[in-house]
Amino acid sequence: MTSETGKIPLPQRLDKVAEHILRQLPKGCRILVIDSGNGAFAHKISGMGADITAIAPVHAIPSGLKHFPILHYDGRTIPFPDHAFDALISEHMIERSENPEIFLEETARVLKTGGACFHILPSSGQAVTAMLRHYPAILPKLMKSFMEKGADTPLARRILRILIRNRWPHRMGTRGYAIFEPILFSRTAWSRRLHKAGFQKKSLTALPAGILSRLLHGTALLYHGELAGIPASKTKSPPDFMAIAQTVRPFSMVPPAAIAFAAEQAVAAIARDIPGVIVECGTWKGGCSMAMLEAQRKAFGKVVRPVHMLDSFEGLPDTTEKDGPLANSLQENPEHKSTYLNDNCVAGETETRTALEAQGFRPEHDFFLHKGWFCDTAPVLASQISKQGIALLRLDGDWYESTMDCLTAFLPIVSEGGMILIDDYFTWDGCARAVHDYLSRNDLPYRIESLPNHMGAFFVKKSQRLTFDDIRDSWKRS
Ligand SMILES: C[S@@+](CC[C@H](N)C(=O)[O-])C[C@H]1O[C@@H](n2cnc3c(N)ncnc32)[C@H](O)[C@@H]1O
Repeated sequence: MTSETGKIPLPQRLDKVAEHILRQLPKGCRILVIDSGNGAFAHKISGMGADITAIAPVHAIPSGLKHFPILHYDGRTIPFPDHAFDALISEHMIERSENPEIFLEETARVLKTGGACFHILPSSGQAVTAMLRHYPAILPKLMKSFMEKGADTPLARRILRILIRNRWPHRMGTRGYAIFEPILFSRTAWSRRLHKAGFQKKSLTALPAGILSRLLHGTALLYHGELAGIPASKTKSPPDFMAIAQTVRPFSMVPPAAIAFAAEQAVAAIARDIPGVIVECGTWKGGCSMAMLEAQRKAFGKVVRPVHMLDSFEGLPDTTEKDGPLANSLQENPEHKSTYLNDNCVAGETETRTALEAQGFRPEHDFFLHKGWFCDTAPVLASQISKQGIALLRLDGDWYESTMDCLTAFLPIVSEGGMILIDDYFTWDGCARAVHDYLSRNDLPYRIESLPNHMGAFFVKKSQRLTFDDIRDSWKRS
């Protein structure tokens, strides 16, 4: 695919890097490019005759031109089977990924043993120059804080607190450039990190850069490694989530791809050490909860986090005006209520429990059924599990009040980094209204994202987002 403008905004040094990388690889090999979103690097390499597949994490989608077809993924699970590629190239992706360890594990999984990897990485020098450019920029912020809050605490303590709170390198730089990055981005640290993920270093070289660019941006590094062997992963091997979704179909009205996504997110939350249990509000016959349990059993050999399942087991409550004309008309018409609303979603508690037990899941251990209306059951459960927190919250109660009751009770105890899956966001007006009303009422900035084909929506509970540096960098790239 050619660029829409014919111009590829790839800095000259990256042009040379692309040529250098291709010289190391045999002709016709399959290469995965993990791009920052606009596909310029992938375009360059494909123009040199390579067989390229390009992906980018959803959070990296730039607003500008796309120069190559990019497949967007959740930033955690690379959407390809094991050993699918001969080579892999990433450009400033490791240090920006939410969890660099999982990112590297995933790259090792999709690469053939002996396959080559090339990562463009920041160097210590880059971290230092970024820091020098950055600290003058936070001075106005410090001054604003002093002016707003007064100097009731000692100046030094306040400065330290602001520096630590805003600049601590939680994720290798994704939250701003901090004092520690020169260490995190040293050659030794990069080599050690990649070695731990199963790669053998062939070279780690500084990319060519002019004097001005060196002064302004520091020097980036190019890591060239070979996959020596699959690293010891936390999971035995990633389960086939789609196959799991197919096995629970008799117990769920959710499309298999959306069930697979929920199952995958349950495993991902555990692998990423997000604390807490899993909660599903609106389970019907339990298929989706069953998939989240089965995925854990396949990935970790057992159920690691119990699933709490809430349902009236008497079907959907009455709609209100907030649910919109379609929901209201379906519920008012007995024929439509039975066909389109699936007998108003009535399911038996005993049948649901029996189905789960038949799969070998233990009640009050692996799964907990909470029968009743959400307005009664959700606050009680929330107070019982408030210390553990929630790693993954799945909302599937269709209507405004049902969604609002569950958000009100559970969102405050979802762990930082935990995901909230909203099955009906695109289907029912009331569900979307409840999500918007709740977020807006509580002044929450969470970004709602869509599953493929609008099969549902999700957002991640994140108290801190991108820093100004990240935004400026992504503008520069796009
Ligand atoms: C669309 S179904 C859930 C589908 C299910 N997740 C699956 O895998 O097929 C909606 C469920 O939410 C339940 N529900 C909706 N609102 C509720 C409320 N306010 N209290 C209790 N249960 C509710 C209904 O009983 C119904 O079983």
